[in-house]
Amino acid sequence: MSKTILATIVVALAAACGGAGASQQHVTDDDVRQALSAAGIVPPLATTVDAPALVELGRMLFFDKILSGNRNISCATCHHPSATTGDALPLSIGPGGVGLAEDRVLAEGTLNPRNALPLFNLGEGSAHALFWDGRVSREPGTAILNVPDPNLTGASIDPAWRPYTEQLLTPLAAQAMFPVTLAAEMRGAGTENELASAPDNRAVWERLMLRLGAYPDYVQLFLAAYPAVAAFDDLNFAHAARAIAAFERAAYTQLDTPLDRYLAGEPDALSDSAKRGAVLFCGPANCTACHRGEHLTDWDTHAIAAPQLGPGTEPPLEDRGRFRVTSLPEDLYAFRTPPLRNVALTGPWTHAGAYATLEGVVRHHLDPVAGLLEYDATQLPASLQTSVDVDPARNAARLAAVSPLLGAPLVLTDAQVTDLVAFLHALTSPSSLALLADIPDTVPSGLPVAD
Ligand code: HEC
Ligand code: HEC
Repeated sequence: MSKTILATIVVALAAACGGAGASQQHVTDDDVRQALSAAGIVPPLATTVDAPALVELGRMLFFDKILSGNRNISCATCHHPSATTGDALPLSIGPGGVGLAEDRVLAEGTLNPRNALPLFNLGEGSAHALFWDGRVSREPGTAILNVPDPNLTGASIDPAWRPYTEQLLTPLAAQAMFPVTLAAEMRGAGTENELASAPDNRAVWERLMLRLGAYPDYVQLFLAAYPAVAAFDDLNFAHAARAIAAFERAAYTQLDTPLDRYLAGEPDALSDSAKRGAVLFCGPANCTACHRGEHLTDWDTHAIAAPQLGPGTEPPLEDRGRFRVTSLPEDLYAFRTPPLRNVALTGPWTHAGAYATLEGVVRHHLDPVAGLLEYDATQLPASLQTSVDVDPARNAARLAAVSPLLGAPLVLTDAQVTDLVAFLHALTSPSSLALLADIPDTVPSGLPVAD
């Protein structure tokens, strides 16, 4: 008997018996609202609005390849509006690549070890932890920012660094300091340019400001964005980072989802399937153990043993996630719970882009052992299929680390998985498909905007 026929019978039986597993069972709007509200899934508060001049400076910087060592890659190359702020690839391709999104190929150098995260809804508000391993984060109690540079972190900052930290008031602004410091993202390697050969992060940032200051249009944009600052020389790269964050917040805060319309009182905004999915998500499927709150994440890190592919952060083939930041055994293979708003638009999914379908990643959660050990590499582009790590010892370590919150394998019917996926689709904001208007025709450096 085919799997589908079997599944149909199981569902039909379950529906006939009205048992707990019966996916087709009717859920009332009261059930849905109660389930969502108990998990803190509420419409996010409106975020701060920045001055238009700051946003405009940020927009130019975001699309300008002048920020990269070899002047050949911008933030937008990996976070492109046409690829819903990602690059549609399992693993990003840095300065050694050519082309855009699915057409981008590695010409030289190495692949980025991780999947490009989307940029939706990361402005102020509750976004406490950025990157797959949460290495840029704000401590909820103290508001102290943790970042991957000791000079910019901690309760007491050296006065020489205060002009930087004064600008880095949000995790999103702090994050924008770092792509330019990474060989595999924007900086380039060896001595191929003056950023690559800079002795430390500060030298990268200072050399970038020298570059930008050479363009009168940038000087003008910076002084318009920071009217209280007398001269361009009084600015540092944190002012650029803050502007980039202002642009990201202005352009990529997208909250017009069916879920938000439903929560605002439109009962028909969610299909019946999405409503059943919502109740499952918050209840029997236990997704809200981690994906809860207004952005459907706890902003914390957990291990789920998602398949590992590509070079890894610890070549060859290893990425131990949060452990690399904290060295705490409990953080082994833990990755930040991804926010799920717009998730249907931002595949491939998981930290190394292992899953090409939402159904695949949902099923992985139901049974991580099967997900990891029976992973189907044919869903990857051909060039990555052989890079999947199948080492038994490393995979055993990945499975040993899996969060107890995922519990025992969870048996759901195919119809229930369909409902969960329908709920995930209800988190898609239609305006996130119309972002191209933000792409500037030209940027102050005169470098090509297109990839
Ligand atoms: C080579 C491709 C590439 C470039 C260029 C790039 N990024 Fe990224 N970005 C990534 C990848 C990959 C990640 C995830 C890395 C990780 O978590 O370790 C990421 C993560 C992020 C995040 C974290 C999102 C979250 O949910 O935590 C933000 C914000 C971001 N990038 C903004 C930028 C900005 C701003 C620039 C330009 C200054 C930039 N990126 C340049 C690939 C890129
Ligand atoms: C133990 C905490 C936890 C639970 C419970 C959990 N998730 Fe996740 N989820 C994660 C983490 C962590 C990741 C990213 C793992 C990685 O990339 O290595 C993830 C990834 C995802 C992704 C991919 C997102 C992306 O941007 O790549 C989806 C979709 C998802 N989860 C949906 C669900 C659903 C549906 C459920 C319930 C069946 C669920 N999750 C239960 C922690 C959890």
